[in-house]
This record gives sequence, structure tokens and C-alpha cells, in this order.
Amino acid sequence: MNNYPTITGLGFAVPEDVWDNHRLEKLVDTTDDWIRSRTGIVTRHIASKKDSTASLGAEAARNALHNAGLDPLEIDVIIVATMTPEMLFPSTACFIQKSIEAKNAAAFDISAACTGFIYALSIGSSMITSGAAENILIIGAETLSRIVDWEDRNTCVLFGDGAGAAVLSKNGKGGRIVDTIIRSDGSKAKLLYMPGGGSLHPASEDTVRDRMHYLKMSGKGLYKEATTSMADGAVRILEKNGLDIGDMDLLVPHQANIRIILSTAKKLDISAEKVYVNIEKYGNTSAATIPIALSEACDEGKIVNGSNVVLVGFGSGMTWGASLLRY
Ligand SMILES: CC(C)(COP(=O)(O)OP(=O)(O)OC[C@H]1O[C@@H](n2cnc3c(N)ncnc32)[C@H](O)[C@@H]1OP(=O)(O)O)[C@@H](O)C(=O)NCCC(=O)NCCS
Repeated sequence: MNNYPTITGLGFAVPEDVWDNHRLEKLVDTTDDWIRSRTGIVTRHIASKKDSTASLGAEAARNALHNAGLDPLEIDVIIVATMTPEMLFPSTACFIQKSIEAKNAAAFDISAACTGFIYALSIGSSMITSGAAENILIIGAETLSRIVDWEDRNTCVLFGDGAGAAVLSKNGKGGRIVDTIIRSDGSKAKLLYMPGGGSLHPASEDTVRDRMHYLKMSGKGLYKEATTSMADGAVRILEKNGLDIGDMDLLVPHQANIRIILSTAKKLDISAEKVYVNIEKYGNTSAATIPIALSEACDEGKIVNGSNVVLVGFGSGMTWGASLLRY
């Protein structure tokens, strides 16, 4: 029998502190009405001093392992997708490996920004299919509040902190990962990036003075790319597997802006009921939005046996991708 990868457990974690839009009105020149109407975001969770990307990722991982009924010692590989790692090295995955005591696991991070969870799903699935691993933990974890410029109203209102995790197992019970597509276009790197702190512009007094350690974004450019890439990703993954839009029971898109999500739904000509949305509670948590949304959709009974679920994401890089799951 072939090895096929399955999502056997899901879990997520968000920091306790909830910031509503009125709180942001005190930091930058914005209004609750502007944020709600232009983005769909009402609240976001923000990391406190005791939280970090690894602590949130570890909590999400424990919840996913509990949901899968798996012991951490049974995990072969931990893959963490993040653009806000614990530090440049070692990997955030290694901090999580220690925290959850997954003593038999290899651990590494991947960098694909908001598409990170779909990239991790692609790598993890391939490792299971090839026989390299039997149980893999993939985690999307972020503390974006640590790289957001809290003086820039164009960006600070959009993001939140959180983590989502999935246990992938060989031939397990749950959502079978039928196929995943991942893509990139590095010519659009500067639509969303953080210039300071890497090898090109290592941390210095100048980089700090020039605010280079904060996320920079071209909102309009990204908006256009996002709607095209998410709709295109959904159509491609379905067509590649002999299905059409009518066969899709639920779309779980990256949660960056409600208008991007609704415009994707319009391009696909599907009703709002077929699209899972929770951006109002969490904002954009980058690599964590899709696993958090998938976890909540399962908890709410929106995914049942037989459901065809499509995950679509886009993000800095540019990167984009789509996955087809069959429950
Ligand atoms: C950022 C985004 C919400 C802006 O929405 P928009 O409708 O395009 O708004 P615009 O950029 O046209 O700005 C309109 C005005 O609102 C202002 N504005 C921007 N942020 C604001 C805020 N938080 N509060 C009030 N006004 C704001 C702008 O300065 C601009 O004012 P101006 O016309 O006087 O120059 C939208 O472009 C977007 O979501 N882009 C994609 C971002 C994304 O997905 N990022 C993550 C990728 S993974």
C-alpha cells in the first residue's frame, strides 16, 4: 500500500492579550471604522513579554498532538514556518522540539512568509510519501507585533500574533493531503519585506535609526497579487486533481484582508458560506492564519467526512500555494 499523508490532529494558540481597534486609535491616526471597513479586522491577539514565537508554537503543537492522540516521542520531524523566528539561529523548530520534548525529532524552519504553512505541508507530505518519516509536526507560528512599526498606520493595524499546528501521519485517519502546489516570484520581494537585521544590512546604529528592523509593505501591490494568486491557486489544485469548483466544500484562505477573501470568492463564483473567515478575531497572523482557520473550521463542524477542502495562501517573496485535502 502506498504511503499517503493525512492530517490527524490540529491545534492552535494565541496570546491572552486582545487589542481592539480602539486601542490602535491611541497609537496611530486611525479609526475603528476605517480598520473594520477596509480590512474586516476587529481584534487581534498581541504577545506579552512572556510569549515568543517558540512558546506560542509549542502550545499549538501540544494542542495538535493532543488532538491527534500522539506522544511527542513519536514525532520524526518538526517543521516550523515563520517570518518572526525566535532568533536568526538556531531554528525556532529546535526551541519547540526542546519545549515539547520531542526527543526523536529532526527540527528545522522554513521561510515562505504567509504561505509558509502550505510550503510546510508540501515538504511534510513528501517526506511521508517517500517513506522518510511517519509522523511530522508542522507549525505556523508568528509574533508579528515584534516587527511591526507601531508608528505606521498602513501596516500596524493589519497584523496579530498566534500559532497553528498540524500533525501529519502516514495512512492516518483525518484529512488526506491529496496534493499541494507551491510557487514563487522573487522579482516582487519588496512588496513585503524587512530590510534590516540580515546579512545584507546587519544590525547597526544606522539600521536601527532608519527603522529597517520593521516590516515594510506596499499594500496596493500586494492586494492585486493576492486576489489573483489565491483564485488561481484554488482553480489549479482542483483541475490538477480532476475536480472543479463545484466539488469544493470549503475554501480556507490566508486571512490578510476580508476584501481580498471576498474578491477571491467572487472570482471563483462561490458563495460566502463556502469560505472560512476568522480575520475579525485574529487579524493577519501570517503563517499561522491557515492552520488556525482549519482548526476552528473542524471544531465548528464545517468539515465533515467526505469534504473536499482547499487551502490557499500568498505572502512575501512573493510566494503562493494551494493544497487539496479530502476528509
Ligand atoms: C493595506 C490595505 C488595507 C489598504 O487599503 P486600501 O483601501 O488600499 O487603502 P489605501 O492604501 O488606498 O489608502 C487609502 C487611504 O487610507 C489611509 N490609511 C492607510 N492606513 C490607514 C489606517 N490604518 N487608518 C486610516 N487611514 C489609513 C492611506 O494613508 C490613504 O490615505 P490618502 O488617500 O490620504 O493617501 C490594502 O491595500 C491591503 O489589504 N493590501 C494587502 C495587504 C496584505 O495583504 N498584506 C499582507 C500580505 S500577506
